[in-house]
Amino acid sequence: MNPTVIVVAPDSFAETAATAIADFVNSTIASQGACSVALCGGTTPAPVYRALTHHSVDWSKVSIWFGDERAVPPISPDSNFAMACASLMDFVAIPGVRIHRMPAERPDIDSAAQEYGETLPPSFDLLLLGMGPDGHTASLFPGSPALSERERRVVAVPSPTPPLQPQVARMTITPVVIEAARHVIVMVRGSDKAAILRQVLDGPEQPVMLPAQLARGGTWIVDRAAGAQLQARNS
Ligand code: 6PG
Repeated sequence: MNPTVIVVAPDSFAETAATAIADFVNSTIASQGACSVALCGGTTPAPVYRALTHHSVDWSKVSIWFGDERAVPPISPDSNFAMACASLMDFVAIPGVRIHRMPAERPDIDSAAQEYGETLPPSFDLLLLGMGPDGHTASLFPGSPALSERERRVVAVPSPTPPLQPQVARMTITPVVIEAARHVIVMVRGSDKAAILRQVLDGPEQPVMLPAQLARGGTWIVDRAAGAQLQARNS
């Protein structure tokens, strides 16, 4: 799987990613009347989501799920849902019934994950992902048993090891959801990810150690700092 890699200057990263997302959502709505989107979390997406609020999208036709969530209340500063609300969902008119929050704070997180997995569409039209400095994506961490899950689409996983934060359990989509997505956009920013990004995109396939390789067939939007060690590519 050959990734499409778009390397941009840091100050155009958010707008480039927002435009790619809006264009895909709009073309999907034009062709099929609706669009299912799975949002990613962490810190990278917030400026992208803010830029997205300035694009013309018929949000009434968009349904939102989440690729992963931390086991914290939805108002926690560590919540991916809270971040998505503060940067996107509080500012665009997505009908509440079309927002499917991941209830990772439930004490019965494993059955909550099973139930959430049953709400997912057969395949997302658009799956947004990030990548951690260890090569994880969503909350699929290197060596995780969740990487060999082929039946369930959402599972609970233990908290990541330091230095990854926050140290709480998580809920995550599994590889079958990434593989089934119609379109995947991965957003990566920062020099701390340059070395691992080269391994993920240019190195041998080893998705158990580098789970972000599960998205190697997608569109990767990276800033110059994160893309500094990538092999030259025909644009
Ligand atoms: C999460 C995310 C996670 C994130 C990467 C990158 O819950 O943390 O879903 O997979 O995309 O860890 O995080 P940053 O964008 O903060 O570097």
